[in-house]
Amino acid sequence: MRYKSTLIVLIAVVFCACAKFIPRRIGPPPDVSVEITPERVALGKKLAEGIMACGSCHTTGSFEGDPQQDMYLAGDVEYGKFEGKIAVPNITPDKETGIGAWTDGELIRAITKGLSRDNRILLPTMPWANFGAALTDEEAQALVAYLRTVPEPVRHEVEATDLTMIMSFFTLTGMAYNTYAKDPFYTDYEPNLATAEGRGKRLAYLGACVDCHVYAPKFEPQFGSLAGGMIVDVPGIPVIFCSNLSPDIETGIGSFSDEELYNAIKYGMRLRPLPDNEMVRWPMMARMTYHTSLTDEEIDDLTAFLRSQPPLRNDVLELEAKAAEKGK
Ligand code: HEC
Ligand code: HEC
Repeated sequence: MRYKSTLIVLIAVVFCACAKFIPRRIGPPPDVSVEITPERVALGKKLAEGIMACGSCHTTGSFEGDPQQDMYLAGDVEYGKFEGKIAVPNITPDKETGIGAWTDGELIRAITKGLSRDNRILLPTMPWANFGAALTDEEAQALVAYLRTVPEPVRHEVEATDLTMIMSFFTLTGMAYNTYAKDPFYTDYEPNLATAEGRGKRLAYLGACVDCHVYAPKFEPQFGSLAGGMIVDVPGIPVIFCSNLSPDIETGIGSFSDEELYNAIKYGMRLRPLPDNEMVRWPMMARMTYHTSLTDEEIDDLTAFLRSQPPLRNDVLELEAKAAEKGK
């Protein structure tokens, strides 16, 4: 027993040493100075307030399903039984509590590479792996131009992150980082933008759909399958499973029309209504403010991408019912 724990500590130490090198591997922030033009700001706005939905996580109150308009991007706190407490930082231009004092390069590195200003590795809850894979340089710069000019600076200190033991282990060992940074799903991402399916795939990366809706039996994400199952496990409320968006007829999107999918993606109308809920619940709901600005073409592309995925049976509502039964 004693040897076993010593071994675990040893392994952790070795891994920690690995995690220490991650910032070096990522390297210093790029030396860029983003010129702020109206076109850039407009492109940044379209992305941030559309498919990328930064405010669905960064706006105060979005986690509780009550986003505060005057606290847009001012930071929030997320809770999960598995992860613990996660601070979602204030990214308004406030100099002390937001990103006002960051350089353009530091912002681009955080958004696309997952390294904060102080060389802290960001949790994959921030979808940097997707953003890094799918954003063009111009789009990353456009986001910077947007963050500098559109959100009001708000002074708001967010409570500090307090991870569970297991999540601390995953973070300190670099496992949380490497799971995403090294997976071919992110490193070898090459959509064919000449097809609706390819354009939809790009949107699904930018919208982090591929993260939340990933098939995740036993907590192990199988990147590339959208059969759902990631758990949203917030203390105090019943667990919610991310839906199966693969084309399986019985448990996925296979039996639904384009119109039904349109209403689900754009307005949050559930494909399978629940007795007391016709709309999607949190955290999908937090995205709906932003999804309403998606164009018809973008939704058609997303739909084409979802329909092109391998179908896989995974009845998340049944899993949810079982989890609720166990929880009682
Ligand atoms: C799914 C939720 C989510 C979405 C969507 C999201 N973020 Fe984040 N973001 C986070 C979390 C959580 C962190 C903190 C991670 C950590 O501390 O390990 C973070 C961290 C950051 C940081 C680093 C800030 C710091 O103080 O370290 C920046 C910059 C950032 N996000 C910008 C953005 C932008 C810009 C967008 C939209 C294009 C965006 N984020 C979308 C959850 C999200
Ligand atoms: C932060 C995690 C998260 C992200 C990011 C996310 N979703 Fe979801 N989504 C969920 C959860 C959780 C549900 C289940 C909600 C419920 O059961 O009420 C859901 C439900 C849905 C549904 C309804 C399914 C049904 O059976 O009614 C659709 C459609 C959907 N998401 C599409 C998308 C698309 C498209 C994207 C990307 C543009 C996306 N989601 C991004 C978590 C997420």
